[in-house]
Amino acid sequence: MSTDDANTEKWSRTDGYLERTVLPDAAELTPIRDAQAEGGLPDIAVSATQGKLLYLLTTIAGASRVLEIGTLGGYSTAWLARGVGPEGSVTTLEFSPEHAAVARASLDEAGLGDRVRIEVGPALDTLPFVTGPFGLVFIDADKANNRQYLDWALRLSEPGTVIVLDNVVRRLDEEGPDADGTRAALERLGTDPRLDATALQTVGIKGWDGLAIAVVR
Ligand code: SAH
Ligand code: DHB
Ligand code: MG
Repeated sequence: MSTDDANTEKWSRTDGYLERTVLPDAAELTPIRDAQAEGGLPDIAVSATQGKLLYLLTTIAGASRVLEIGTLGGYSTAWLARGVGPEGSVTTLEFSPEHAAVARASLDEAGLGDRVRIEVGPALDTLPFVTGPFGLVFIDADKANNRQYLDWALRLSEPGTVIVLDNVVRRLDEEGPDADGTRAALERLGTDPRLDATALQTVGIKGWDGLAIAVVR
Protein backbone atom coordinates (compact mmCIF):
# COMPACT_ATOMS: atom_id res chain seq x y z
CA MET A 1 0.00 0.00 0.00
CA SER A 2 1.34 3.46 -0.82
CA THR A 3 1.83 5.97 1.98
CA ASP A 4 -1.04 8.01 0.53
CA ASP A 5 -3.39 5.00 0.57
CA ALA A 6 -2.35 4.15 4.14
CA ASN A 7 -3.02 7.71 5.23
CA THR A 8 -6.41 7.84 3.54
CA GLU A 9 -7.35 4.51 5.16
CA LYS A 10 -6.40 5.86 8.58
CA TRP A 11 -8.16 9.18 8.03
CA SER A 12 -11.31 7.38 6.81
CA ARG A 13 -11.33 5.12 9.84
CA THR A 14 -10.96 8.16 12.09
CA ASP A 15 -13.74 10.01 10.26
CA GLY A 16 -15.97 6.98 10.88
CA TYR A 17 -15.13 7.03 14.57
CA LEU A 18 -15.78 10.78 14.84
CA GLU A 19 -19.05 10.46 12.96
CA ARG A 20 -20.33 7.65 15.20
CA THR A 21 -19.13 9.35 18.38
CA VAL A 22 -19.79 13.05 17.87
CA LEU A 23 -22.55 13.26 15.29
CA PRO A 24 -25.28 10.70 15.73
CA ASP A 25 -27.46 13.14 13.78
CA ALA A 26 -25.57 12.23 10.59
CA ALA A 27 -27.10 8.75 10.36
CA GLU A 28 -30.51 10.08 9.37
CA LEU A 29 -29.00 11.63 6.24
CA THR A 30 -27.26 8.42 5.08
CA PRO A 31 -30.16 7.54 2.72
CA ILE A 32 -29.24 10.67 0.72
CA ARG A 33 -25.75 9.30 0.14
CA ASP A 34 -27.20 5.87 -0.73
CA ALA A 35 -29.60 7.35 -3.29
CA GLN A 36 -26.72 9.32 -4.77
CA ALA A 37 -24.68 6.13 -5.23
CA GLU A 38 -27.67 4.20 -6.60
CA GLY A 39 -28.29 7.01 -9.09
CA GLY A 40 -24.73 6.66 -10.35
CA LEU A 41 -23.72 10.14 -9.20
CA PRO A 42 -20.05 10.69 -8.35
CA ASP A 43 -19.01 10.06 -4.75
CA ILE A 44 -17.84 13.61 -4.09
CA ALA A 45 -20.33 15.00 -1.57
CA VAL A 46 -18.96 16.59 1.57
CA SER A 47 -18.23 14.11 4.34
CA ALA A 48 -20.56 13.88 7.33
CA THR A 49 -18.20 15.86 9.55
CA GLN A 50 -17.92 18.56 6.89
CA GLY A 51 -21.69 18.59 6.37
CA LYS A 52 -22.17 19.07 10.09
CA LEU A 53 -19.71 21.97 9.93
CA LEU A 54 -21.89 23.58 7.24
CA TYR A 55 -24.91 23.11 9.48
CA LEU A 56 -23.08 24.63 12.46
CA LEU A 57 -21.82 27.61 10.45
CA THR A 58 -25.37 28.22 9.26
CA THR A 59 -26.71 28.23 12.79
CA ILE A 60 -23.79 30.28 14.18
CA ALA A 61 -24.33 32.86 11.42
CA GLY A 62 -28.04 32.83 12.24
CA ALA A 63 -28.69 32.41 8.52
CA SER A 64 -32.30 31.88 7.51
CA ARG A 65 -31.51 32.06 3.78
CA VAL A 66 -28.67 30.01 2.30
CA LEU A 67 -27.33 29.83 -1.26
CA GLU A 68 -25.48 26.74 -2.50
CA ILE A 69 -23.71 26.43 -5.85
CA GLY A 70 -23.37 22.72 -6.75
CA THR A 71 -26.14 20.46 -5.41
CA LEU A 72 -25.10 16.97 -6.57
CA GLY A 73 -27.45 14.54 -4.75
CA GLY A 74 -28.48 17.04 -2.07
CA TYR A 75 -26.30 15.79 0.78
CA SER A 76 -24.66 19.12 1.69
CA THR A 77 -27.99 20.76 0.86
CA ALA A 78 -29.67 18.67 3.56
CA TRP A 79 -27.19 19.83 6.21
CA LEU A 80 -27.71 23.44 5.15
CA ALA A 81 -31.49 22.93 5.18
CA ARG A 82 -31.25 21.61 8.72
CA GLY A 83 -29.25 24.71 9.60
CA VAL A 84 -31.84 27.22 8.39
CA GLY A 85 -34.62 25.45 10.25
CA PRO A 86 -38.24 24.90 9.21
CA GLU A 87 -38.89 28.60 8.53
CA GLY A 88 -35.70 29.08 6.52
CA SER A 89 -34.83 28.39 2.90
CA VAL A 90 -31.98 27.05 0.80
CA THR A 91 -31.56 27.93 -2.87
CA THR A 92 -29.24 25.47 -4.57
CA LEU A 93 -27.93 25.69 -8.14
CA GLU A 94 -27.19 22.55 -10.17
CA PHE A 95 -26.07 22.15 -13.76
CA SER A 96 -27.28 18.57 -14.21
CA PRO A 97 -31.04 17.83 -14.39
CA GLU A 98 -30.23 14.23 -13.40
CA HIS A 99 -28.41 15.31 -10.26
CA ALA A 100 -31.19 17.78 -9.45
CA ALA A 101 -33.83 15.03 -9.77
CA VAL A 102 -31.95 12.74 -7.39
CA ALA A 103 -31.52 15.62 -4.94
CA ARG A 104 -35.18 16.61 -5.15
CA ALA A 105 -36.36 13.07 -4.37
CA SER A 106 -33.92 12.65 -1.48
CA LEU A 107 -34.68 16.02 0.11
CA ASP A 108 -38.42 15.38 -0.12
CA GLU A 109 -37.91 11.93 1.39
CA ALA A 110 -35.90 13.46 4.26
CA GLY A 111 -38.72 15.92 4.98
CA LEU A 112 -36.55 18.90 4.00
CA GLY A 113 -37.91 19.48 0.49
CA ASP A 114 -40.27 22.30 1.48
CA ARG A 115 -37.39 24.58 2.38
CA VAL A 116 -35.20 23.86 -0.67
CA ARG A 117 -35.47 25.41 -4.13
CA ILE A 118 -33.30 23.79 -6.82
CA GLU A 119 -32.46 25.90 -9.90
CA VAL A 120 -31.28 23.77 -12.81
CA GLY A 121 -28.73 25.05 -15.33
CA PRO A 122 -25.22 26.46 -15.42
CA ALA A 123 -24.95 28.55 -12.26
CA LEU A 124 -23.63 31.57 -14.14
CA ASP A 125 -26.92 31.54 -16.10
CA THR A 126 -29.21 31.12 -13.08
CA LEU A 127 -27.37 33.44 -10.64
CA PRO A 128 -28.66 36.65 -12.32
CA PHE A 129 -32.18 35.53 -11.34
CA VAL A 130 -31.34 34.74 -7.72
CA THR A 131 -32.41 37.29 -5.11
CA GLY A 132 -30.29 37.96 -2.02
CA PRO A 133 -29.21 38.64 0.54
CA PHE A 134 -28.12 35.28 1.92
CA GLY A 135 -26.71 34.66 5.37
CA LEU A 136 -24.42 31.90 4.09
CA VAL A 137 -23.17 30.94 0.63
CA PHE A 138 -21.58 27.53 -0.04
CA ILE A 139 -19.58 27.35 -3.28
CA ASP A 140 -18.99 23.76 -4.44
CA ALA A 141 -19.43 23.41 -8.21
CA ASP A 142 -17.05 23.67 -11.19
CA LYS A 143 -13.84 25.04 -9.73
CA ALA A 144 -12.88 26.93 -12.90
CA ASN A 145 -15.60 29.47 -12.11
CA ASN A 146 -14.78 29.86 -8.42
CA ARG A 147 -13.63 33.44 -8.82
CA GLN A 148 -16.91 34.39 -10.54
CA TYR A 149 -18.93 32.49 -7.94
CA LEU A 150 -17.15 34.48 -5.26
CA ASP A 151 -18.11 37.70 -7.09
CA TRP A 152 -21.75 36.57 -7.08
CA ALA A 153 -21.59 35.53 -3.45
CA LEU A 154 -20.43 39.03 -2.54
CA ARG A 155 -23.13 40.62 -4.66
CA LEU A 156 -25.76 38.52 -2.85
CA SER A 157 -24.32 39.16 0.62
CA GLU A 158 -24.75 41.59 3.45
CA PRO A 159 -22.42 42.37 6.35
CA GLY A 160 -22.05 39.18 8.39
CA THR A 161 -22.68 36.81 5.50
CA VAL A 162 -20.51 33.69 5.69
CA ILE A 163 -18.97 32.37 2.46
CA VAL A 164 -17.58 28.82 2.34
CA LEU A 165 -15.54 27.51 -0.57
CA ASP A 166 -15.00 23.75 -0.84
CA ASN A 167 -12.01 21.82 -2.15
CA VAL A 168 -9.51 24.66 -2.06
CA VAL A 169 -6.57 22.27 -1.68
CA ARG A 170 -7.67 19.32 -3.84
CA ARG A 171 -5.55 19.17 -7.02
CA LEU A 172 -4.39 22.73 -6.48
CA ASP A 173 -0.92 21.71 -7.70
CA GLU A 174 -2.30 20.50 -11.05
CA GLU A 175 -2.25 23.01 -13.87
CA GLY A 176 -5.51 23.90 -15.56
CA PRO A 177 -8.66 25.97 -15.29
CA ASP A 178 -9.86 24.35 -12.04
CA ALA A 179 -6.69 25.13 -10.11
CA ASP A 180 -6.56 28.58 -11.73
CA GLY A 181 -10.15 29.28 -10.65
CA THR A 182 -9.54 28.22 -7.08
CA ARG A 183 -6.24 30.13 -6.86
CA ALA A 184 -7.94 33.29 -8.16
CA ALA A 185 -10.69 32.91 -5.55
CA LEU A 186 -8.16 32.37 -2.75
CA GLU A 187 -6.21 35.47 -3.82
CA ARG A 188 -9.42 37.45 -3.76
CA LEU A 189 -10.19 36.16 -0.25
CA GLY A 190 -6.84 37.49 0.87
CA THR A 191 -7.05 40.90 -0.78
CA ASP A 192 -10.68 42.02 -0.96
CA PRO A 193 -11.22 44.57 1.83
CA ARG A 194 -14.84 43.36 2.19
CA LEU A 195 -13.69 39.85 3.11
CA ASP A 196 -12.16 38.48 6.29
CA ALA A 197 -11.07 34.91 5.54
CA THR A 198 -9.10 31.80 6.38
CA ALA A 199 -8.36 28.59 4.51
CA LEU A 200 -7.84 25.27 6.24
CA GLN A 201 -6.27 22.03 5.07
CA THR A 202 -8.33 19.01 6.07
CA VAL A 203 -7.85 15.25 6.06
CA GLY A 204 -10.52 12.60 6.29
CA ILE A 205 -12.56 10.19 4.24
CA LYS A 206 -12.09 12.43 1.20
CA GLY A 207 -8.31 12.36 1.55
CA TRP A 208 -6.30 15.56 1.69
CA ASP A 209 -8.45 18.59 0.96
CA GLY A 210 -9.34 21.97 2.36
CA LEU A 211 -11.94 24.63 2.67
CA ALA A 212 -11.98 28.39 2.92
CA ILE A 213 -14.30 30.33 5.20
CA ALA A 214 -14.90 34.07 4.94
CA VAL A 215 -17.17 36.60 6.52
CA VAL A 216 -18.36 39.71 4.70
CA ARG A 217 -17.51 42.93 6.54
N1 SAH B 1 -22.32 20.20 -2.71
C1 SAH B 1 -22.44 18.77 -3.03
C2 SAH B 1 -21.39 18.33 -4.01
C3 SAH B 1 -21.37 19.10 -5.29
S1 SAH B 1 -20.41 18.27 -6.52
C4 SAH B 1 -22.30 17.98 -1.74
O1 SAH B 1 -21.33 18.21 -1.02
O2 SAH B 1 -23.15 17.12 -1.44
C5 SAH B 1 -20.41 19.49 -7.76
C6 SAH B 1 -21.75 19.68 -8.46
O3 SAH B 1 -21.65 20.87 -9.23
C7 SAH B 1 -22.10 18.54 -9.43
O4 SAH B 1 -23.38 18.05 -9.19
C8 SAH B 1 -22.05 19.21 -10.80
O5 SAH B 1 -23.01 18.73 -11.72
C9 SAH B 1 -22.35 20.67 -10.43
N2 SAH B 1 -21.88 21.63 -11.43
C10 SAH B 1 -20.81 21.53 -12.26
N3 SAH B 1 -20.73 22.61 -13.03
C11 SAH B 1 -21.76 23.42 -12.70
C12 SAH B 1 -22.22 24.67 -13.16
N4 SAH B 1 -21.59 25.34 -14.13
N5 SAH B 1 -23.32 25.20 -12.59
C13 SAH B 1 -23.96 24.54 -11.58
N6 SAH B 1 -23.57 23.35 -11.12
C14 SAH B 1 -22.49 22.79 -11.67
C1 DHB C 1 -14.49 16.74 -6.67
C2 DHB C 1 -15.37 17.80 -6.55
C3 DHB C 1 -15.81 18.17 -5.29
O1 DHB C 1 -16.67 19.20 -5.12
C4 DHB C 1 -15.40 17.49 -4.17
O2 DHB C 1 -15.87 17.88 -2.97
C5 DHB C 1 -14.53 16.43 -4.30
C6 DHB C 1 -14.08 16.05 -5.56
C7 DHB C 1 -14.01 16.33 -7.99
O3 DHB C 1 -14.39 16.96 -8.98
O4 DHB C 1 -13.27 15.35 -8.07
MG1 MG D 1 -16.85 19.73 -2.97
